[in-house]
Formats: sequence, structure tokens, C-alpha cells
Amino acid sequence: MKREREARLVVRGGKKLLGDVTVHGAKNAVLPMLAAGMLSDEPVTLTDCPRITDVEDMATMLGALGCAVTREGRSMTVCGGCLGSETPAELAGVMRSSVFMLAPMLVRTGEARMHAPGGCRIGARPTDIHLDGLRRLGAKISEEDGCIVCRADRLKGADIVLRYPSVGATENLLMAATAAEGRTRIIGAAREPEISSLADLLRKMGAAVGGEGTPVLTVEGAGRLSGAVAAPVPDRIVAATVLTAVAVCGGKVALSGAQIGHLGAVLSRLLSGGTRLTEHGGVLIFESDGVPSPCRIETGPYPLFPTDMQAPLMAYMCFARGTSSVRETVFESRFAHAAELAKMGAEIGVAGSYAFVNGRGELKGARVHAPDLRGGAGLVIAALAAEGESVISGVGHIDRGYERIEELFSSLGADIVRTGE
Ligand code: EPZ
Repeated sequence: MKREREARLVVRGGKKLLGDVTVHGAKNAVLPMLAAGMLSDEPVTLTDCPRITDVEDMATMLGALGCAVTREGRSMTVCGGCLGSETPAELAGVMRSSVFMLAPMLVRTGEARMHAPGGCRIGARPTDIHLDGLRRLGAKISEEDGCIVCRADRLKGADIVLRYPSVGATENLLMAATAAEGRTRIIGAAREPEISSLADLLRKMGAAVGGEGTPVLTVEGAGRLSGAVAAPVPDRIVAATVLTAVAVCGGKVALSGAQIGHLGAVLSRLLSGGTRLTEHGGVLIFESDGVPSPCRIETGPYPLFPTDMQAPLMAYMCFARGTSSVRETVFESRFAHAAELAKMGAEIGVAGSYAFVNGRGELKGARVHAPDLRGGAGLVIAALAAEGESVISGVGHIDRGYERIEELFSSLGADIVRTGE
């Protein structure tokens, strides 16, 4: 899938951010929910889907597998079950989210072939937890011509213990368990809000699913599922990205649609003497004097600090006066943005899973390249507060998870434009 890699963002930093933002459905909820649509021959409609390239790519992949995918405004409908049994190689390499096709393909056709899933270059991204869980349900797994091949005429419910609360593995196994005869328990499951969204959809499709948000999910196999309409949870990472930008630039934003309960770990770092958070009728109002404080973060499974906010917080730390530290425990190489921030004058030392930021309270605009989706978001935040002009390339990465990020921030008064598209 060709991406507008040549597009660039030109940012002139120093503007305060003032205005209103509505947070839409979460990328990381919509992707597995779209895949779940393959489990039914009837229409499955998701409301409030973001207009981002990962969702477009998922729709293309579902279409290549024989599903009819339509978009009407912010609603997307998947229909027609799943006729194919192989993720198209040219698409599966595009992103990690193809791994979600494993379970629905296996359930619908008895066979699923998966090329190595793509996505950001943030680590090895193995699939052993997915595959071990499918084996527990009775699938036979083999490697053929560079593909992982799963086969199962029928799946049988079982207790599955995850060695790590993998988000994707929890979602894949939840989908597979809906078609497994008898009871399945997923023990040590991920507890991210996006899992709850998927569980809610599967329940609406007729599956008996319980325990989401806890480490033990229970599913009673229900065979073929029916159609449904469901709303994905709001995107807590987009919401946190906006809050972090306001904390760095200063200003005041009214955030509609976000759920404060999903933002605790990030808010705990952003709230300091110079900030104020209030809530009126479900709208979060966040004000900041634009003077960040040094902090420490250690990423981990929800509800710990989200790895997807590590790069935006590293940008925040550069504008705090003093030493801040980051420990990235979820992915093994997710510090590529540090070198780009250094081009703006940041002083960051990286050692293994640790990064130490010597915050000088300022950065200078520079030409930088987004290394991945969230690293790109971090660079946008840095550019919004830096002195002078920045040019950010690799915008295709950012478009995977943010709807026209330049419009999001220019609507708040930032001087940011997209060029070269
Ligand atoms: C999901 O990725 C998200 N992506 C990621 O968001 C997010 O960073 C991640 O969860 C953690 O919260 C989507 O939901 C589409 P994992 P996923 O399986 O499912 C290892 C973004 O920017 N692991 O929880 O791939 C894995 O290598 C993206 O929106 C295994 O070892 O994450 C990683 O180190 C980036 N074996 C850790 O577990 C497995 O079988 C967490 O991975 C599976 C995972």
C-alpha cells in the first residue's frame, strides 16, 4: 500500500494551544473489532471509526478476504464472513494488525496462513503467545513457505495461561474461543480498555464473554455469531497526546469523548503546580502554564503507563528543567525518537531499556524524521513547543494513528501545515 511518505509537516513552535477537541474511536479497538466482523455472515457495524490509514488498510485486507466493508461517515460495516484463508502478503507486511486475522480466518475456514505481520519497527513482535493459545484450543500450527499455518477442523474450549498479558494475543484468543466448544478461560489476559470494546462487541454478536478488565476472561463457545452494532472506546492515546501537547505548549483544551479513567497514568505525570484539570458533563478541561516538571515513567501493561505514550512524554521531559527517566518494558527497541529529538538539542542518554533526559527547558526547531507512529507524535509535540521552525518527514507513520494531525493542532491555534503531498 503506497503511503504519502514524501509529505512533510512544517511547524513553527511557540504557540499556546486553546480550543475544543472531540476524541473518536480508538485505533487499537477498531482494528480487532473489524476483524471480529469476520466471525459473522451478518453485518457488523462499528460507529465512530477514525479516518486513519491503519483502519483503511484493515478494510482493504478484509475486502481481499472476501468481506464487504463499507464506510458511511464515521461508521464502518463488515459483512460476509471470511471467504479467504490467507492474509494477502503485500498487505500483511504493512502492519501488525494483520495478526488479528489469524483467529477469524481459522474459525471461518479451518485454516489460516499468516505472513510475518508488519507494523512499526519497535521490536521483534513475535506471535508465540498467540500460537501457544491456539494450540491449547486444538489448532495445529506449522511453518510452510515462510508462512505460519494454523489448521483446526474444530476448536475445543480450554484454560489458556498467557506468559505475558499480550494485547493482540488476548484479542485473537478471545475471538477464537467464541467458536470453541465448551468453556475457555484466558488467564493472565491483557486488561486494556480496547479489550473491553472487543468483548462488548462479541457479546452483542451473541458470544457469552465475561471478565474483561480483569486478568481472567471466560468464554462459552457459541458457534456462528450474529451481526451487531457497537461503539469502540475513545482513543486514549490520541487524548493523552493532546493533553501532553498542551502541557508543553501551555494553554487550555476541552476534550470531549475521552474517558478520564483511561488516562490516569499519563495525567499523573502531566498534573503539576502549573496545571489544572476539571471535568464538566463528561468534558475534560485541562489548563497548563506550559512549564513541564521532570518525571519518571516506566511503561507496562494497562493500567500502568502506556508504551504508546512513551515518546510523547519523552518530548515533554525535554522541556522540563532537570533530569527525567524512562524505562520501556513493553517493546525492546522503542527509543528511535531520541536521536531525532537530539537534532532539536535534546540531551538524552539511552542504555538498554532506559533513557535519561537532561531537560533544558527548551528545544530548537530542526529537520527530523518520524521513525514510527508514536515517535512521530512525540516529534510533533516537540516541534509545537520548540523555538523556530521544524520540518517533520515520515508523516505516513503518523497518519497510521492520527487523523490529519496538522488539522488537530492547527484547530487549537498551532502553526502547523502539511506540504508536499
Ligand atoms: C498492541 O500491540 C497495540 N497495537 C500497540 O499499539 C501497543 O503498543 C501494544 O498493544 C501494547 O499496549 C494494536 O492494538 C494494533 P502486545 P500488540 O502483544 O498486540 C511481546 C500503536 O502505536 N509479545 O501486547 O502487538 C511483544 O513483542 C501500537 O498504536 C510476544 O513476545 O502488543 C511486545 O514486546 C504500537 N509474543 C509485548 O509482548 C507474542 O505472541 C507486548 O506486545 C505477542 C507479544
